[in-house]
Amino acid sequence: MVSKNPERGSRNATTIAIASSKGGVGKTTTAVNLATAMAELGCHVLLIDLDPQAHVAAALGSPPAPSPTFSDVMLGHLNDVQEVVRLSPTPQLMLAGSDKRLAETEMVLSAKIGKEFILRGALDVARTHHDIILIDCPPNIGTLTLNALCAAEHVIIPADMSVLALEGVSDMLDTVTTLRKRLGQSLNVLGILATRVDVRTKRINESISQSFRDMFAEALFATQIPQNASLNRAHMQGQSVFQYAITSPGAIAYRALAHEVMLKLNANIPKEAVG
Ligand SMILES: Nc1ncnc2c1ncn2[C@@H]1O[C@H](COP(=O)(O)OP(=O)(O)OP(=O)(O)O)[C@@H](O)[C@H]1O
Ligand SMILES: [Mg+2]
Repeated sequence: MVSKNPERGSRNATTIAIASSKGGVGKTTTAVNLATAMAELGCHVLLIDLDPQAHVAAALGSPPAPSPTFSDVMLGHLNDVQEVVRLSPTPQLMLAGSDKRLAETEMVLSAKIGKEFILRGALDVARTHHDIILIDCPPNIGTLTLNALCAAEHVIIPADMSVLALEGVSDMLDTVTTLRKRLGQSLNVLGILATRVDVRTKRINESISQSFRDMFAEALFATQIPQNASLNRAHMQGQSVFQYAITSPGAIAYRALAHEVMLKLNANIPKEAVG
């Protein structure tokens, strides 16, 4: 679904990066399921995969991106992300991003002046076609993640209940502070999201969540994502958790997160979608 020089639309997307320097904390699971939940609430959502591992397409059972690809946008061969958006299995959820050249592309970009702002410029038209743009980031704070943070107004930082995840959150908060100071970014931390919360290891979890509460206080989302096999199985089957197991604890939690995010954004949820 490639449209050359797409016309401007009438929407004005809010852009949210999902980022942490720590691997395996549930960034992609959150990106895929939050995007699907928000689309099901009636929003027009664009989900961008900025991770060369390309897990988003796999997690949604989508075929590899056709040519020209997202890398062509990042390399300046195409002007706008809207030129490479494609359909997903969920109505109102569109996909863009990651292709097999993205790791190589990141290396080429690292030598360019203004490399952090390429994605921001390339969302100029795409922003006018969607209500929400979610960006799934790789597990590091390299050029691609910095592009996401410079393109976004908000960041969500997922953290599984581990000591290493505490470091991942601190690294990300330091990066946000640096971007605000050095690049004048007005990036807002929408929230820190506790993921993979396991009731079976309540005592360990409780002491770590207490550390999270002490360190990050009101930045934590009220919604927590439980450790739930349906989330993992859905991911492996190439489906969102809403397709795979709509009544599972994982589906319920991600739907609650979508409501909480919309509330924090002061966005209206269409009445027919509330239930
Ligand atoms: N709440 C959960 N319950 C059960 N399994 C989960 C949960 N969240 C994530 N997983 C599983 O953990 C693995 C890592 O999750 P995911 O890919 O979302 O993490 P990530 O932060 O995107 O990883 P990476 O840093 O490699 O991009 C996946 O197999 C996923 O299915
Ligand atoms: Mg991932």
